[in-house]
Amino acid sequence: MSETRLLNKNNQLHESGEPLLDLQGLSIAFKTDGGEFTAVDKVSFSLRPGRTLGIVGESGCGKSVTALSLLRLVPHPGRITAGVIRFMGQDLMALSANEMRRIRGGDIAMIFQEPVTALNPVFTIGDQIAEAYRLHHNASAKEAHETAIGVLDRVGIPGARHRAKSYPHQLSGGMRQRAVIAMALISRPRLLIADEATTALDTTIQAQIIDLLLDLQDEYGMAILFISHNLGIVSEIADEVMVMYAGQVVEKAPTESFFGAPRHPYSAGLLTTLPQPERRNQILPTIEGSVTVRYDQLTGCRFAPRCVKADDFCRRTDPELEAVAAGHGVACLKMEFAP
Ligand SMILES: Nc1ncnc2c1ncn2[C@@H]1O[C@H](COP(=O)(O)OP(=O)(O)OP(=O)(O)O)[C@@H](O)[C@H]1O
Ligand SMILES: [Mg+2]
Repeated sequence: MSETRLLNKNNQLHESGEPLLDLQGLSIAFKTDGGEFTAVDKVSFSLRPGRTLGIVGESGCGKSVTALSLLRLVPHPGRITAGVIRFMGQDLMALSANEMRRIRGGDIAMIFQEPVTALNPVFTIGDQIAEAYRLHHNASAKEAHETAIGVLDRVGIPGARHRAKSYPHQLSGGMRQRAVIAMALISRPRLLIADEATTALDTTIQAQIIDLLLDLQDEYGMAILFISHNLGIVSEIADEVMVMYAGQVVEKAPTESFFGAPRHPYSAGLLTTLPQPERRNQILPTIEGSVTVRYDQLTGCRFAPRCVKADDFCRRTDPELEAVAAGHGVACLKMEFAP
């Protein structure tokens, strides 16, 4: 895939060396009775075709809202207040509503946090997936149906032709999730956003779905943004890990460096609580304390109130993400040194 040349909507060449997705300084705020709450604060990252970025961080730190912004689906009363999102070289925010609709479920597909809501209970899965295909392709009903069966088969649904006639409630949780993935993949997205896509499933099925995503990634060269509380799964699927805390990126690193030698005290806390052999399938552990609800009102480092290393300097000074090695950034005034 690395040599592939892509054409964007305006038929401009998108060189494979460029990132597929590039976010710079993205901020998202929600209107509240107490004024605007900046839930996501100057988040930047980029993703190349065929690569996977894992996003971790405890509940409420801004992972889903960041992901939704890529589809311009930030829920009301939220809005993007700053930053640029470039996808295949185009400014996503400058696209018309129609162009954005073409991208959703086309070049960018998302598996949502609550997969059950992704399927409509009154239609068979075959019909829904075929319909998703027809939204983006000029295909006859029969052609779309055959394509849907092909994808259901590809995601490992046995007897796909027969199962296509099932309604969502007639399938097991694992099979339903495969159907949701089939729907996301039928248009061969260049970017797949998976937001807790495997969380509801048992361990064996999770592992199967991860293998499936990796296979499909090899085959289609799609990039994946993988949001999960499961550090074990992130270590298996991601090329790079980004840790968010209270709406900000606190560490971003190649997966091996991150799991080998995390440098931010929050990341280190996440990993040291995990005994090595049990990291696989380990859910994000709890670190003492909790994040302030209005975290945007904190001055200095937002993790300082929970950090054993924090001093007055940390409480006064906003740490910037600093490069500590190639592709490794850390936002901490007291960062751990590499062993
Ligand atoms: N519809 C909304 N209205 C107001 N605030 C919201 C809304 N959706 C999200 N937020 C706020 O934005 C912040 C980030 O939420 P987000 O859903 O992105 O967190 P998350 O990291 O995905 O958490 P989780 O791990 O629980 O899924 C939260 O603090 C939340 O209070
Ligand atoms: Mg979420």
